[in-house]
Amino acid sequence: MKNHNLNQNKYLINHYTKPLGVTNKKVLQAMLKTPRHEFVPKTHEAQAYYDIALPIGHGQTISQPSLVGIMTQALKLKGRETVLEIGTGSAYQAAILSRLAKQVYTVEIIEDLYKKAKKVLKKLNIKNVTCVLGNGSVGLKKYAPYDAIIVTAAAKHVPQELLNELKVGGRMVIPVVEHAPDLQELKVITKHKNIIGTKKITPVIFVPLVGKYTKGPKPQKNLLNFKKMLQRKHE
Ligand SMILES: C[S@@+](CC[C@H](N)C(=O)[O-])C[C@H]1O[C@@H](n2cnc3c(N)ncnc32)[C@H](O)[C@@H]1O
Repeated sequence: MKNHNLNQNKYLINHYTKPLGVTNKKVLQAMLKTPRHEFVPKTHEAQAYYDIALPIGHGQTISQPSLVGIMTQALKLKGRETVLEIGTGSAYQAAILSRLAKQVYTVEIIEDLYKKAKKVLKKLNIKNVTCVLGNGSVGLKKYAPYDAIIVTAAAKHVPQELLNELKVGGRMVIPVVEHAPDLQELKVITKHKNIIGTKKITPVIFVPLVGKYTKGPKPQKNLLNFKKMLQRKHE
């Protein structure tokens, strides 16, 4: 990373990410090594190291860095895990996870974002992230089960398919719509043998998870069109 960007990233981490609750050294290190400007459109490069969400096209966003840190920290990764991410978006979250886990599978429903994500991960020589194009609200059976699952779009409740694909002892971080139409709580779900643990972390605002778990603001037109396209492909 160029010195200029590295300094800006250090500033972001020291003045925003840490004070907002990200204390895990490995997570902070992973964020420091991940050049956020590579994941935002050229038009927003100047704001890449601000602690704000930014548009990435198709009505979607790259999340606020401090929130990415909080969600990553909540997974309590040790380095040997297989992680599933639903909502690749810019691939910034996936790139950070790649430094903290053994293998990351990330699913994106918008083809253009999926293609861009593959491109930037290749450019950064990140080899342990597999991008998948599809509807991740119903999980990703092919590589299940997962040690950890992170969902970066809001669902009306925790998808049963994702719970099924989580290993016993595994953790899932997911924004869930709690107060309609669009107030959400970020939750950590822990799967025990006979019981599911749930902890609320913080209120958040995410775009909706497209599919049968959608609630709140209606999916944008382009997402609906994409869904239709996917349906047609399967007919
Ligand atoms: C807030 S953005 C994700 C931010 C992303 N993690 C990053 O680091 O840039 C949410 C993403 O979830 C995607 N999405 C929404 N519903 C989905 C679904 N059912 N399956 C897969 N991706 C979905 C959206 O297209 C969008 O790219």
